Amino acid sequence: MKIAFVGKGGSGKTTLSSLFIRHLAARRAPVIAVDADINQHLGAALGLEEAQSAALPPMGAQLPLIKEYLRGTNPRISGAEAMIKTTPPGAGSRLLRVTEDNPVYDACARALTLDGGEVRLLVTGPFTEADLGVACYHSKVGAVELCLNHLVDGRGEYVVVDMTAGSDSFASGLFTRFDMTFLVAEPTRKGVAVYRQYREYARDFGVPLKVVGNKVEGPDDLEFLRAEVGDDLLVTVGHSPWVRAMEKGRPQPLAALEDVNRQALETLYATADAAYERRDWERYTRQMVHFHLRNAESWGNARTGTDLAAQVDPDFVLREEPREVVGPRTPSAPQPA
Ligand SMILES: Nc1ncnc2c1ncn2[C@@H]1O[C@H](COP(=O)(O)OP(=O)(O)OP(=O)(O)O)[C@@H](O)[C@H]1O
Ligand SMILES: [Mg+2]
Repeated sequence: MKIAFVGKGGSGKTTLSSLFIRHLAARRAPVIAVDADINQHLGAALGLEEAQSAALPPMGAQLPLIKEYLRGTNPRISGAEAMIKTTPPGAGSRLLRVTEDNPVYDACARALTLDGGEVRLLVTGPFTEADLGVACYHSKVGAVELCLNHLVDGRGEYVVVDMTAGSDSFASGLFTRFDMTFLVAEPTRKGVAVYRQYREYARDFGVPLKVVGNKVEGPDDLEFLRAEVGDDLLVTVGHSPWVRAMEKGRPQPLAALEDVNRQALETLYATADAAYERRDWERYTRQMVHFHLRNAESWGNARTGTDLAAQVDPDFVLREEPREVVGPRTPSAPQPA
């Protein structure tokens, strides 16, 4: 399952994505966490020291390696330099899986042990407002889009992306790459305005979107969100002393999180899980082709000097292949009686 946290700056995207990631880790679910936000704070929110966070290898700097790996032996892609962020996989491409080792994770991911579980953390690297909105060949979030378009994730496997609700994700197809998008909104006019904008884009592409109210205090806040967001409001989170303690440099185990907020995480988990049932690989593939053709025409063909539409493999559908079971089954896998 691919899950995004989006919202206005400061709404609590990083806080809620880090809590959700830890919730998954505590359940021993395989998780890839991706920091694709303008302000790169996910590492710190997951407990890394500042120096450790700063030392994380940015995906943006590994684009040549990522492209070279993913292209594999796909004959429709002449070289890594002809690959743009929307180049879709086809026959011969290499695909990524949540639980495997590969050169992309070797170069970009850092393993963290959180609440008893293992998480792989990848970061795009910091970007400025100047990076946003430009349909740029070197776009930092381009590396994330490329990876998501080549990633086959199964039930019970999670990719959680902390990202901005900014225009860069709409310029490309990034915002359509998720089974569930949680829009974090404070009960303010600005928080709700970001939701409305996102909803417009989401509706056109059938993107599942739910609002998570954050810093919601009292009935007035709740009523405001209910009136503005309606049925899209999934759950609300109040001011959390647990989060505050972490901000003060006094991290607590997840088990110590306030009950009501743990309940909220459980709701996010159940909602994301249910979204898997509606996964449609063919539509997912169609949409990546749609955005590729759009990017090719608007800047990619001119930039690479080739007709990028020829990269589309009309017979290819990204989907889960039955994997050979090697060795003993994992103890968590349900066994027939
Ligand atoms: N429920 C909460 N209870 C207490 N503090 C919170 C809560 N949610 C967020 N905060 C605090 O609000 C601030 C902003 O949160 P956060 O960094 O998660 O937002 P963001 O949307 O990721 O911001 P940015 O756009 O800067 O990346 C942080 O100091 C965080 O600790
Ligand atoms: Mg953030």
